[in-house]
Amino acid sequence: MLNGKVIVLGVTGGIAAYKAAALCSKLTQKGADVHVIMTASAKQFITELTLQSLTKNPVYSDTFDEREPSVVSHIHLADMADLVLVAPATANIIAKMAHGLADDMLTTTLLATTAPVMISPAMNVHMYTHPAVVTNMETLVSRGVGMIEPGEGLLACGYVGKGRMEEPETIIEVVERFFQQQEAERALDMEAAPVGPLAGKKVVVTAGGTIERIDPVRYITNDSSGKMGFAIAKAAKEMGADVHLIAAHTDMAPPEGIRTEKVESAQDMHDAVMRVFDDSDIVVKAAAVADYRPVKAAASKLKKLGETMTLELVKTTDILETLGKRKTSQFLIGFAAETDQVEAYATDKLRRKNCDLIVANDVTKAGAGFGTDTNTVQIFDAGGLVLELPLMTKEDVARRLLTLAAERMPKEGI
Ligand code: PMT
Repeated sequence: MLNGKVIVLGVTGGIAAYKAAALCSKLTQKGADVHVIMTASAKQFITELTLQSLTKNPVYSDTFDEREPSVVSHIHLADMADLVLVAPATANIIAKMAHGLADDMLTTTLLATTAPVMISPAMNVHMYTHPAVVTNMETLVSRGVGMIEPGEGLLACGYVGKGRMEEPETIIEVVERFFQQQEAERALDMEAAPVGPLAGKKVVVTAGGTIERIDPVRYITNDSSGKMGFAIAKAAKEMGADVHLIAAHTDMAPPEGIRTEKVESAQDMHDAVMRVFDDSDIVVKAAAVADYRPVKAAASKLKKLGETMTLELVKTTDILETLGKRKTSQFLIGFAAETDQVEAYATDKLRRKNCDLIVANDVTKAGAGFGTDTNTVQIFDAGGLVLELPLMTKEDVARRLLTLAAERMPKEGI
């Protein structure tokens, strides 16, 4: 169960630190990759060399003791850990953790990690029941820190009672149970994987209007509100897809639970789409992307000079066309915002840009196109009109569009 698990073991300055040797030895024997971080006081009780020999990994204690110039150790350890275990955990480290202190390698790593954290307290019985210590432990437990309760019995200080660090064997049993539970939960999550006609599909959606800068305070944009694209992203998620929404200028908040990447210009959007395109199954280009941008965005605000001003524009990269040339298995859906000859212009774009479907909206129609909550669209494939949707909400347009796409996607496993 511990095979390959990266366990960062924090050792702090209590007499129980000697037990860290047994912990390191047994965890390593069980296949764990143990990385020890010692506090300065821990080194009064046990040497770095002992723990380094048992784990076959360098032992850290000083935040500024960087061994590998390209790696910030405490961040690296924090990121690689599957579990951070502090054993023994003195009253001091518990207080520092509860109050978010970061004055050495261990406390810095504890703040930087997103891995689960467990502590095995060890201290004098009266310290263990001191209100300050009790409050600090309650704080940590409230944050999800796992607590391995100390054992009862004769303490190093001669007292009898609760405060002696739990035995290494028991700690390891707790750690093993933790990973077993984690595996079981992961299996359940997998079973509860999203269902729906787009389950398992990676869907990329672009939305909103790009912004093409003239200078730091002026830009060229369009009337896209992002509603159409956002509706498609939400519908895709409802249908079980893994959605990546790339949003240009919009006044809407990112939809709940959907990975949303903000972009500004056509070039930014191009770059963002190209980063995820190859790994995607469906791409829906609902964004209103500028066809032209100023040749050069001025670094400072342009001053008013003559009666007229000429702005030289240059074509932007046609993202959809680029995708049409690059696609392999991706299902590519373009949009066409037209004001006349809708079918002719839309089907021309479908062909030129090698789309699987193109969604044409006559943006001069009442309730259609930019900024509205509704839309009416005609959807074409290479053979012509496949679906004509009367005025309805953009959410309904999105669902109908994606249902059509799902029907045309190659079925999994076939
Ligand atoms: O956002 P809303 O307010 O809800 O409005 C929705 C909408 C009207 C913006 C939407 O329904 C729509 O029509 N989006 C496409 C707008 C547009 O740019 O259409 P177009 O005909 O100019 O572009 C054709 C296709 O090429 C679009 O998929 C567009 O994303 C894409 N394109 C265009 C230019 C460019 N440089 N790169 C592109 O990828």
